Amino acid sequence: MSNNFNTHSKVNNLTLCTDAEQASIYAANQIAELIREHQKQGKPAVLGLATGKTPTTVYKELIRLHQNESLSFHNVVSFNLDEYYPIGPKDLQSYTYFMRHYLFNHIDCKPQNIHIPHADCSPDRIEHYCKDYEDKIASFGGLDLQLLGIGRNGHIGFNEPGSSFDSTTRLVDLHSLTRKDAEKNFGTIENVPHQAISVGIHTIIQAKRILLLALGKEKSEIISKALNGEISTEVPASLLQTIPQVEYILDRDAAAFIDR
Ligand code: PGA
Repeated sequence: MSNNFNTHSKVNNLTLCTDAEQASIYAANQIAELIREHQKQGKPAVLGLATGKTPTTVYKELIRLHQNESLSFHNVVSFNLDEYYPIGPKDLQSYTYFMRHYLFNHIDCKPQNIHIPHADCSPDRIEHYCKDYEDKIASFGGLDLQLLGIGRNGHIGFNEPGSSFDSTTRLVDLHSLTRKDAEKNFGTIENVPHQAISVGIHTIIQAKRILLLALGKEKSEIISKALNGEISTEVPASLLQTIPQVEYILDRDAAAFIDR
């Protein structure tokens, strides 16, 4: 871990960092360590990856580690959490485009090891497609590490309020707040898809390690509910309270309502 974490303190599975950059660098280092450890053991590192504003600096740091500190991704197998539906992979708002832009175009991950839900399949093929996505994750022995953000409504992936604990990869309806938050990327609210393909909560909590990153004051209320509130499907991230392998990584602004 970098030694410039001057105000970094850790309480059980909660890691508090001074700012978003330090939190992101900390998360990137956790991921890099896992990749290197698995390389030493000659094993793939199976990563569950997230999109949105939250992980962008994590990816920037991973790229820096690749370019300046010889971190290779040759053993990485990745599965992204979600994708809007319908959307084409070349669409600028698609998460396929996002992942190429923010990470994959800049590292040496093998293209055949990158998995992002394809949201251009016809409605009659979705169920089969989602089952296939689950089977592929299982075929690699499950996720070694899942990186998560949190939506302002408490969603993880696109598991919106009301998602069941045993949900797996499926087509979901997007919550109005999720669509509103996506409006800036799509130009107008009408352009924001109403649905998405999302890996389920059951799939996420099977990961051997989970890093939940929450940054900025706009996440302070929901992260406080997720960590200290009642466990409820109305706040999907609250379900993680029951999962020992979760580490919450917060910057100071996101931790505003956390009792330290
Ligand atoms: P954000 O999204 O990083 O853009 O805030 C997080 C999420 O919806 O999981």
